[in-house]
Amino acid sequence: MKDIRSPDKDNSGILIPVNPAIENYMWSLVNQTGHPVLIEMEEFAKLRNFPIVNRLVGIFLETQAKMINAKRVFEFGSGYGYSAYWFARAVRNDGCVICSDSDPVNCERAEKYLSAASLWQRTEFCVGMAQDIFTRTDGLFDICYNDVDKSAYPEIWQMAKNRIRSGGLYIADNVLWHGRVAVENYTDTVSDSTEAIIEHNRLIFNDPEFDAFINPTRDGVIVARKK
Ligand SMILES: C[S@@+](CC[C@H](N)C(=O)[O-])C[C@H]1O[C@@H](n2cnc3c(N)ncnc32)[C@H](O)[C@@H]1O
Repeated sequence: MKDIRSPDKDNSGILIPVNPAIENYMWSLVNQTGHPVLIEMEEFAKLRNFPIVNRLVGIFLETQAKMINAKRVFEFGSGYGYSAYWFARAVRNDGCVICSDSDPVNCERAEKYLSAASLWQRTEFCVGMAQDIFTRTDGLFDICYNDVDKSAYPEIWQMAKNRIRSGGLYIADNVLWHGRVAVENYTDTVSDSTEAIIEHNRLIFNDPEFDAFINPTRDGVIVARKK
Protein backbone atom coordinates (compact mmCIF):
# COMPACT_ATOMS: atom_id res chain seq x y z
CA MET A 1 0.00 0.00 0.00
CA LYS A 2 1.23 3.47 -0.83
CA ASP A 3 2.61 5.44 2.11
CA ILE A 4 0.82 8.81 2.22
CA ARG A 5 2.20 10.00 5.52
CA SER A 6 3.43 13.55 5.85
CA PRO A 7 7.18 14.03 5.55
CA ASP A 8 6.94 16.17 8.67
CA LYS A 9 8.37 13.49 10.94
CA ASP A 10 9.59 13.96 14.46
CA ASN A 11 13.29 14.76 14.32
CA SER A 12 13.83 16.32 17.71
CA GLY A 13 14.56 13.05 19.41
CA ILE A 14 12.71 14.30 22.48
CA LEU A 15 9.15 13.09 22.68
CA ILE A 16 6.76 11.62 20.20
CA PRO A 17 3.27 12.79 21.19
CA VAL A 18 1.53 9.60 20.02
CA ASN A 19 3.04 6.15 20.35
CA PRO A 20 4.07 5.09 16.81
CA ALA A 21 2.10 1.85 17.11
CA ILE A 22 -1.07 3.84 17.87
CA GLU A 23 -0.30 6.25 15.02
CA ASN A 24 0.18 3.28 12.64
CA TYR A 25 -3.10 1.81 13.79
CA MET A 26 -4.89 5.09 13.06
CA TRP A 27 -3.31 5.16 9.59
CA SER A 28 -4.52 1.63 8.95
CA LEU A 29 -8.11 2.81 9.46
CA VAL A 30 -7.86 5.69 7.02
CA ASN A 31 -8.71 5.39 3.36
CA GLN A 32 -5.31 5.86 1.69
CA THR A 33 -6.70 6.50 -1.75
CA GLY A 34 -8.69 9.63 -2.59
CA HIS A 35 -8.91 12.35 -5.19
CA PRO A 36 -5.84 12.28 -7.50
CA VAL A 37 -5.16 15.90 -6.57
CA LEU A 38 -4.95 14.98 -2.90
CA ILE A 39 -2.38 12.32 -3.69
CA GLU A 40 -0.46 14.79 -5.83
CA MET A 41 -0.41 17.37 -3.03
CA GLU A 42 0.83 14.75 -0.55
CA GLU A 43 3.52 13.58 -2.97
CA PHE A 44 4.66 17.17 -3.45
CA ALA A 45 4.96 17.67 0.32
CA LYS A 46 7.08 14.56 0.60
CA LEU A 47 9.29 15.59 -2.29
CA ARG A 48 9.87 19.13 -1.00
CA ASN A 49 9.67 18.34 2.68
CA PHE A 50 6.85 20.88 2.95
CA PRO A 51 5.08 20.81 6.34
CA ILE A 52 1.46 20.17 5.44
CA VAL A 53 -0.87 18.78 8.05
CA ASN A 54 -1.18 15.12 7.13
CA ARG A 55 -4.27 13.23 6.07
CA LEU A 56 -5.22 12.19 9.62
CA VAL A 57 -5.32 15.86 10.58
CA GLY A 58 -6.98 16.86 7.29
CA ILE A 59 -9.87 14.51 7.99
CA PHE A 60 -10.05 15.92 11.52
CA LEU A 61 -10.24 19.50 10.20
CA GLU A 62 -12.98 18.62 7.74
CA THR A 63 -14.96 16.83 10.44
CA GLN A 64 -14.66 19.74 12.88
CA ALA A 65 -15.86 22.15 10.21
CA LYS A 66 -18.79 19.96 9.24
CA MET A 67 -19.82 19.48 12.87
CA ILE A 68 -20.44 23.20 13.29
CA ASN A 69 -21.75 23.69 9.74
CA ALA A 70 -18.89 26.10 9.02
CA LYS A 71 -19.37 28.36 6.03
CA ARG A 72 -16.66 30.96 6.58
CA VAL A 73 -13.13 29.89 7.44
CA PHE A 74 -9.99 32.03 7.70
CA GLU A 75 -6.63 30.28 7.35
CA PHE A 76 -3.47 31.94 8.68
CA GLY A 77 -0.68 30.25 6.68
CA SER A 78 -2.21 28.18 3.89
CA GLY A 79 0.90 26.90 2.16
CA TYR A 80 -0.20 25.54 -1.20
CA GLY A 81 -3.72 24.71 -0.06
CA TYR A 82 -3.58 21.26 1.52
CA SER A 83 -5.40 22.16 4.75
CA ALA A 84 -7.70 24.42 2.69
CA TYR A 85 -8.60 21.38 0.58
CA TRP A 86 -10.21 19.80 3.67
CA PHE A 87 -11.93 22.97 4.84
CA ALA A 88 -13.21 23.69 1.33
CA ARG A 89 -14.82 20.27 1.18
CA ALA A 90 -16.60 21.02 4.45
CA VAL A 91 -17.99 24.49 3.62
CA ARG A 92 -19.65 23.23 0.41
CA ASN A 93 -20.65 25.41 -2.51
CA ASP A 94 -22.18 28.22 -0.45
CA GLY A 95 -19.15 28.60 1.82
CA CYS A 96 -15.74 30.25 1.57
CA VAL A 97 -12.24 29.52 2.83
CA ILE A 98 -10.13 32.65 2.97
CA CYS A 99 -6.51 31.58 2.60
CA SER A 100 -3.43 33.65 3.35
CA ASP A 101 0.23 33.04 2.67
CA SER A 102 3.27 35.26 2.27
CA ASP A 103 4.64 33.27 -0.68
CA PRO A 104 3.00 33.99 -4.08
CA VAL A 105 4.28 30.67 -5.46
CA ASN A 106 2.13 28.87 -2.90
CA CYS A 107 -0.88 30.76 -4.17
CA GLU A 108 -0.18 29.65 -7.75
CA ARG A 109 0.17 26.04 -6.64
CA ALA A 110 -3.01 26.23 -4.58
CA GLU A 111 -4.92 27.53 -7.58
CA LYS A 112 -3.65 24.67 -9.71
CA TYR A 113 -4.47 21.98 -7.17
CA LEU A 114 -7.75 23.33 -5.85
CA SER A 115 -9.04 24.09 -9.36
CA ALA A 116 -8.34 20.49 -10.35
CA ALA A 117 -10.29 19.36 -7.28
CA SER A 118 -13.17 21.75 -8.19
CA LEU A 119 -12.65 23.58 -4.88
CA TRP A 120 -11.03 26.82 -6.06
CA GLN A 121 -14.40 28.59 -6.41
CA ARG A 122 -14.90 28.12 -2.65
CA THR A 123 -11.50 29.66 -1.94
CA GLU A 124 -10.24 33.22 -1.74
CA PHE A 125 -6.44 33.18 -1.66
CA CYS A 126 -4.65 36.35 -0.51
CA VAL A 127 -0.89 36.81 -0.70
CA GLY A 128 0.84 38.75 2.08
CA MET A 129 1.21 38.73 5.84
CA ALA A 130 -1.71 36.80 7.29
CA GLN A 131 -2.07 39.34 10.10
CA ASP A 132 -2.57 42.21 7.59
CA ILE A 133 -4.97 40.22 5.42
CA PHE A 134 -7.02 39.26 8.47
CA THR A 135 -7.21 42.87 9.63
CA ARG A 136 -8.42 43.95 6.16
CA THR A 137 -11.09 41.22 6.07
CA ASP A 138 -14.38 42.14 7.77
CA GLY A 139 -16.77 40.07 9.78
CA LEU A 140 -16.90 37.03 12.00
CA PHE A 141 -15.70 33.54 11.15
CA ASP A 142 -16.94 30.07 11.94
CA ILE A 143 -13.33 28.89 12.11
CA CYS A 144 -10.00 30.67 12.39
CA TYR A 145 -7.19 28.23 11.63
CA ASN A 146 -3.61 29.10 12.55
CA ASP A 147 -0.55 27.48 10.93
CA VAL A 148 1.91 30.39 10.46
CA ASP A 149 5.41 30.80 11.88
CA LYS A 150 5.20 29.58 15.44
CA SER A 151 6.66 32.73 17.02
CA ALA A 152 3.49 34.56 15.88
CA TYR A 153 1.08 32.13 17.56
CA PRO A 154 0.18 34.28 20.63
CA GLU A 155 -0.37 37.33 18.39
CA ILE A 156 -2.62 35.39 16.00
CA TRP A 157 -4.66 33.98 18.89
CA GLN A 158 -5.21 37.48 20.32
CA MET A 159 -6.37 38.73 16.91
CA ALA A 160 -8.56 35.79 16.03
CA LYS A 161 -10.35 35.17 19.31
CA ASN A 162 -12.54 38.26 18.99
CA ARG A 163 -13.55 37.45 15.41
CA ILE A 164 -14.97 33.97 16.00
CA ARG A 165 -18.74 33.60 16.30
CA SER A 166 -20.26 32.01 19.37
CA GLY A 167 -20.03 28.24 18.86
CA GLY A 168 -17.22 28.74 16.34
CA LEU A 169 -13.72 27.31 16.57
CA TYR A 170 -10.13 28.45 16.83
CA ILE A 171 -7.85 25.68 15.56
CA ALA A 172 -4.04 25.68 15.48
CA ASP A 173 -1.55 23.07 14.32
CA ASN A 174 1.80 22.08 15.91
CA VAL A 175 0.80 22.97 19.46
CA LEU A 176 2.86 20.08 20.90
CA TRP A 177 5.84 21.07 18.74
CA HIS A 178 7.23 17.55 18.58
CA GLY A 179 6.97 17.31 22.33
CA ARG A 180 9.22 20.30 23.04
CA VAL A 181 6.40 22.04 24.96
CA ALA A 182 6.55 19.24 27.52
CA VAL A 183 10.30 19.37 28.12
CA GLU A 184 11.34 21.69 30.92
CA ASN A 185 13.95 24.34 30.03
CA TYR A 186 14.15 23.12 26.47
CA THR A 187 16.63 25.21 24.51
CA ASP A 188 17.89 25.06 20.97
CA THR A 189 17.57 27.14 17.86
CA VAL A 190 13.80 26.86 17.96
CA SER A 191 13.36 27.84 21.62
CA ASP A 192 11.63 31.12 20.64
CA SER A 193 8.99 29.11 18.83
CA THR A 194 8.70 26.71 21.75
CA GLU A 195 8.15 29.56 24.20
CA ALA A 196 5.60 31.17 21.90
CA ILE A 197 3.62 27.94 21.58
CA ILE A 198 3.69 27.37 25.35
CA GLU A 199 2.38 30.91 25.88
CA HIS A 200 -0.26 30.45 23.15
CA ASN A 201 -1.56 27.24 24.70
CA ARG A 202 -1.58 28.77 28.19
CA LEU A 203 -3.55 31.81 26.99
CA ILE A 204 -6.16 29.62 25.32
CA PHE A 205 -6.68 27.24 28.20
CA ASN A 206 -7.01 30.21 30.58
CA ASP A 207 -9.51 32.09 28.45
CA PRO A 208 -12.94 31.92 30.10
CA GLU A 209 -14.66 32.54 26.77
CA PHE A 210 -13.38 29.28 25.25
CA ASP A 211 -13.43 25.55 25.93
CA ALA A 212 -10.19 24.01 24.69
CA PHE A 213 -8.83 20.59 23.87
CA ILE A 214 -5.63 19.28 22.25
CA ASN A 215 -5.84 16.39 19.82
CA PRO A 216 -2.30 14.89 19.99
CA THR A 217 -2.44 13.49 16.44
CA ARG A 218 0.74 14.18 14.45
CA ASP A 219 2.17 17.36 16.09
CA GLY A 220 -0.89 18.31 18.18
CA VAL A 221 -3.93 20.28 17.05
CA ILE A 222 -5.67 22.61 19.48
CA VAL A 223 -9.38 23.21 19.12
CA ALA A 224 -10.96 25.98 21.19
CA ARG A 225 -14.72 26.52 20.99
CA LYS A 226 -16.11 29.95 21.69
CA LYS A 227 -18.88 29.74 24.30
C1 LIG B 1 3.12 25.01 7.92
S1 LIG B 1 2.91 25.84 6.42
C2 LIG B 1 1.16 25.77 6.14
C3 LIG B 1 0.66 24.45 5.75
C4 LIG B 1 -0.81 24.40 5.45
N1 LIG B 1 -1.62 24.93 6.53
C5 LIG B 1 -1.20 22.97 5.18
O1 LIG B 1 -1.33 22.20 6.13
O2 LIG B 1 -1.36 22.63 4.02
C6 LIG B 1 3.10 27.52 6.90
C7 LIG B 1 2.90 28.50 5.79
O3 LIG B 1 2.67 29.76 6.36
C8 LIG B 1 3.34 30.75 5.63
N2 LIG B 1 3.56 31.83 6.62
C9 LIG B 1 4.30 31.77 7.75
N3 LIG B 1 4.14 32.90 8.49
C10 LIG B 1 3.25 33.67 7.78
C11 LIG B 1 2.65 34.94 8.02
N4 LIG B 1 2.88 35.64 9.12
N5 LIG B 1 1.79 35.41 7.08
C12 LIG B 1 1.53 34.70 5.95
N6 LIG B 1 2.05 33.50 5.70
C13 LIG B 1 2.90 32.98 6.60
C14 LIG B 1 4.55 30.10 5.03
O4 LIG B 1 4.87 30.71 3.79
C15 LIG B 1 4.07 28.66 4.84
O5 LIG B 1 3.63 28.43 3.54
